[in-house]
Amino acid sequence: MTSVPLWFNELNLIYFRNISLSEPFTIFEIYKESYVADRIQLLPDHIANQIAAGEVIQRPASAVKELLENAVDAGATAIKLLINDGGKSLIQVIDNGAGMSETDARMCFERHATSKIKNIDDLFHIRTMGFRGEALASIAAVAQVELITKREQDEVGTCIEIENSQVIKQQLVAAPTGTSIAMKNLFFNVPARRNFLKSNTSEMRHIVEEFIRVALAFPNSFFSLTNNGQELFHLEEGSLKGRILQLLGNHYNAKLVSLKEETDYLNIYGFAGKPETAKRTRGDQYFFVNNRFIKSAYLNHAVMNAYQDMISPDSFPAYVLFIDLDPAVVDVNVHPTKQEIKFEDEKIVYAFIQAAIKHALAQFSITPTLDFGLDASIQGLDAIQNPFTEEKQMATRSSSIFQTFTEANQAHKIELDKDGNLKHWNQYEPSTLLNKTENGQLSSKTDPESLPHLQHLFPSTLSDVKPFQLFNTYILVPVANSFLLIHQQSAHERIIYEQLVEALNGKAIATQQSLFPTTIDLTPADAVLLAELLPDLQKLGYSIEHFGKHTFLIQGTPADLQAGNEKLVVENIIEQYKNFTPELKLSNREMLIRSVCWQQATKSGTPLSEKEMQGLINNLFQCKQPNITSNGKPTYTDFKKESLEKIFGR
Ligand SMILES: Nc1ncnc2c1ncn2[C@@H]1O[C@H](COP(=O)(O)OP(=O)(O)OP(=O)(O)O)[C@@H](O)[C@H]1O
Ligand SMILES: [Mg+2]
Repeated sequence: MTSVPLWFNELNLIYFRNISLSEPFTIFEIYKESYVADRIQLLPDHIANQIAAGEVIQRPASAVKELLENAVDAGATAIKLLINDGGKSLIQVIDNGAGMSETDARMCFERHATSKIKNIDDLFHIRTMGFRGEALASIAAVAQVELITKREQDEVGTCIEIENSQVIKQQLVAAPTGTSIAMKNLFFNVPARRNFLKSNTSEMRHIVEEFIRVALAFPNSFFSLTNNGQELFHLEEGSLKGRILQLLGNHYNAKLVSLKEETDYLNIYGFAGKPETAKRTRGDQYFFVNNRFIKSAYLNHAVMNAYQDMISPDSFPAYVLFIDLDPAVVDVNVHPTKQEIKFEDEKIVYAFIQAAIKHALAQFSITPTLDFGLDASIQGLDAIQNPFTEEKQMATRSSSIFQTFTEANQAHKIELDKDGNLKHWNQYEPSTLLNKTENGQLSSKTDPESLPHLQHLFPSTLSDVKPFQLFNTYILVPVANSFLLIHQQSAHERIIYEQLVEALNGKAIATQQSLFPTTIDLTPADAVLLAELLPDLQKLGYSIEHFGKHTFLIQGTPADLQAGNEKLVVENIIEQYKNFTPELKLSNREMLIRSVCWQQATKSGTPLSEKEMQGLINNLFQCKQPNITSNGKPTYTDFKKESLEKIFGR
C-alpha cells in the first residue's frame, strides 16, 4: 500500500488516498472512496469574481457599457471614451462627474458594493443605470485597472491600481474633479476568454453600438469616442434630434417625425423615420425605458404594426423611442446585462407605442414640419418637394390611421381589438426574413447514387431537354428514364456559392464599373462592419470605397448583377451577415459568402425563360456538389420511371 496524491484543488489542498498500486482501479472508484475531508469550500474571492465577471463582462463592449453607465450615474456632463485595439489593450472612460472619496475608491471594486440601492424596495424606484454593485468588481477581476478619482470638495484625488481583484498600488494624486477608469489588457488572466475575442474591427463595432446607445439617451451631455488616437465621435450637448442626426446620419434630417404622448401611466417621446426611410437593415431601432436601452421583439412589433401597409414587410423603419414610466411597474433585474426588462403590464405599453407611432405618422402627413436645422437639406424637405394640398389633407384625414385618432386626437384612446387582445403579435417572428441559412448541417434527401448518372447526362444532352417551369419556382426536366424537379432558387444558390468560394480563393470575380457610383450611408456600427468586409467584397466583384465617416461609395458590382439596385444589394448583404447566429460557428468568410449568395440568387417566384432554365441546369451540374445548397437544402430531386410505374400499379 502506498499513499499517492490524487488531485489538487484551487486552494492547493492535496487529497491523498491509500491504494494498492498492484490492484487495477477505475477513476470512479477513486472518486467514490477517496474523501479524507469534507469537500465543499468557499472559492477564493478572485476566482469567484472571475466567474461572476463572465456574466457581466463578455467582451470589450460590455465593459464600455458599464463604464459609460457609471459615468452617467455619477452625474457627468462630459464623458470621453478612449479605445485601443478594439478594447483589447485599452478601454478608458473619463468623466467630470461626482468622483469618489478615498474610501469609496477602494470600496467600489468590492462585489455587491453600490451607492445606488440600499434595500430590495429601492430596486423598484431605480432611476440610475447601475444597481447591482457588480460591474467594477467584475472588471477588476479580468483586467488591469487604474482608477483616478476626485470629488469637488477634496483637495487631492486618489489613484488606485488593481489587478486580479488585488489592489497593488494606492496613492494620493492631483486630479480634476471626476473619475477616470482605464482598463488594460482585458482578460489577460483568462486566456480562454481572450482567445474567444473577435478581430479588433469586429469588437470595435460592438463598442460603437454600446456607445451610441448611451450617447442617444443623454443628449444633454458631451460625449466623445477616440479609437487608436483618432476621434470617431465628438458630440456636443444639444437636442435629441441633433444627437440622432450626429449618431445615425444626417440623411435622416427632415425624414423623422417627432413623437410626444403624455398620459398618466407613461410618457412616450422620440422620433420615428418617415416610411421612405425604411431600410433592409434593422440597425437604427432604439427603445429606451427610463433612459435605459432595452431590446424587445414585442415592442418592436408594436412599431412594425403601426407602419403596416406603409412600408414593405421586409423593411425596417428607423426609430428612437423613449418610454418613461413609474419604475415601480418595471422590473429591471431580470437579465445580467439589464437589456431585457419586464413590464408589469406589457400589453398597455404595446398599445401605447403602436398608437403613438400611428398618431405621429398621421400628423406628419397633414402638418409637414419645416426643419431649418441644416440649410443644405432644406431643398430636400418633404414640405417643399410635395407641396401640401387640400386634396392631400383630405386623403390623410380619411385614412384609417387618422381615423383612429378622431377621439380627442389622443394616442392613448386607441383601443385593443374586440377581445382585448393584441392581434397576431405572437405569430410574429422577427427573424423570418433572415434565417434562410439557419441549418449549418449538410443533408440531402437526394439519392447520391444518382449523381454520376446525372452529371453524365448534362450538359451534353442539354439541347434536347425541354425544361418546364412550375409555380415560377420549380423546373421540371425530363431526362432519359426519369425526370428531375429542380428548386430554382436553391439551385442558383449552389451555383453562386461555388463561384464565390473560388473567387475568394484567388480567381476574383469581374467588376462592372457603374456609370454613376452610388453612395450609401450606414449607421456607425454597420460602417465599421462594412469596412471590415471590403477586401473580401472586392474579390467577390463589389468595388466599394470608404467615403467619409459612415458613407461608402459603390463604384461597381459583379458584372452579371443587374445594375440599378446597388444600394439595396449592399444593404441586404449587411443585414444577412449580421443575422447569422453565433451558434452556427461559421467563419466570417463563410458568413459573407452565404450572405452574398442569398442576395444574388434568383428568388422563387421569378418567371424564367427556357434559355435561362437551360443555363441554370447546365451550371448546376457543373458544380462540385450540385445536389445541396451550402446550408444543406436539396437543390433537386429525381423521379425514376420505375417508381412512377409502381405508383400507377404498372
Ligand atoms: N465614474 C464613477 N464616478 C463616481 N462613482 C462611481 C463611478 N463608477 C463607479 N462609481 C461608484 O462605484 C460603485 C460601484 O460601481 P459598479 O458599477 O460596480 O456598481 P453599480 O453601478 O452600483 O451597479 P452595477 O453593477 O449594476 O453597475 C457605484 O455604485 C458608484 O458609487
Ligand atoms: Mg455600474
